Amino acid sequence: MSELPAVVPEQGLPPRVTIYEVGARDGLQNEKAVVPTEVKAEFIRRLVDAGLPFVEATSFVSPTWVPQLADAADLMAMLGEAGKEMPVLVPNERGLDRALELGVQCIAVFASATETFAQRNLNRSLESQLTMFEPVIRRARDAGLAVRAYVSMCFGDPWEGQVPLAQVVAVGKALLDLGAGQLSLGDTIGVGTAGHVTALVRAFETAGVARDRLALHFHDTYGQALTNTYAGLRAGITTFDASAGGLGGCPFAKSATGNLATEDLVWFLTGLGIRHGVDLAKLLDTSVWMSHQLGRPSPSAVVRALGGDAASASSPRQTA
Ligand code: HMG
Ligand code: MG
Repeated sequence: MSELPAVVPEQGLPPRVTIYEVGARDGLQNEKAVVPTEVKAEFIRRLVDAGLPFVEATSFVSPTWVPQLADAADLMAMLGEAGKEMPVLVPNERGLDRALELGVQCIAVFASATETFAQRNLNRSLESQLTMFEPVIRRARDAGLAVRAYVSMCFGDPWEGQVPLAQVVAVGKALLDLGAGQLSLGDTIGVGTAGHVTALVRAFETAGVARDRLALHFHDTYGQALTNTYAGLRAGITTFDASAGGLGGCPFAKSATGNLATEDLVWFLTGLGIRHGVDLAKLLDTSVWMSHQLGRPSPSAVVRALGGDAASASSPRQTA
């Protein structure tokens, strides 16, 4: 069996894509059991070694809200100098203070496109989430940090149903106006479809937001993540979030399952001849190792196809 697809490029697609890895944060925030800090550190080191240029490490959020990531400071200490380059989630000034103390260079704030999810995820209204982020973004920028901003529920919301494009654009534009450098548009519950992706990117363009300011963040609940990625590529997007082994979800959104698996994205991009800089074999080894740590198989189709028997993990905390 071939371990890489045949390369057949297609005209009109970007020659290079940036993969923004969220497995250690989006993936592990959703685990029922708290993963030991040293396992997280090893996971992150392996992801970096596989060539991933951006590895989101953790979140400086309330440990009461997300106990899975309560070890953020210990994890950063374990990662040393390399950890300072890795993006971390920060919701408020308390989180920013914690990140600045540790020398973090890149943060991500995370907003909601809907009122209900803003309340459930941030304990804030649609409007007051922006009031919370304003000093965070301003102080981070003044300190020379890079700032990414997520918008969740861009393609649908489990409580509110369909989300108007204009509502997503309004929240996204507000975050850019506050000084965020990049906007990651999240399909938190994976309900988006290809035409919707094209329409949303166009709506941002019409509102004056260049495509190179946008990233796409797909969860794969309905198996649409790769198709939606293809729509994003065709619309000229060049940054895609993904999670090694397809880990992921959101503890505050029912029906949020794993992210687009990084292996599936790498396989797809490789076949199109689009450069991404990731070593699929190393990434695969990492996800197989992680599936043993978590005690269950990866949902990634590529991990299942290429990971062999080792991919069908059953017992937790064994080293592959
Ligand atoms: P709150 O309860 O309104 O906060 O929560 P508060 O300001 O009233 O503070 C309450 C207590 O929490 C205080 O402690 C604070 O010090 C503490 P006390 O005085 O009671 O002892 N606290 C903190 N501690 C550590 N670090 C902090 C922090 N902030 C407050 N930063 C808050 C508001 C935003 C803090 C809370 O709602 C929260 O932490 N939410 C995080 C939710 C989260 O992490 N969700 C998952 C990430 S988003 C996601 O996954 C979607 C994404 O992947 C994109 C997509 O898929 O769409 C990004
Ligand atoms: Mg997510």
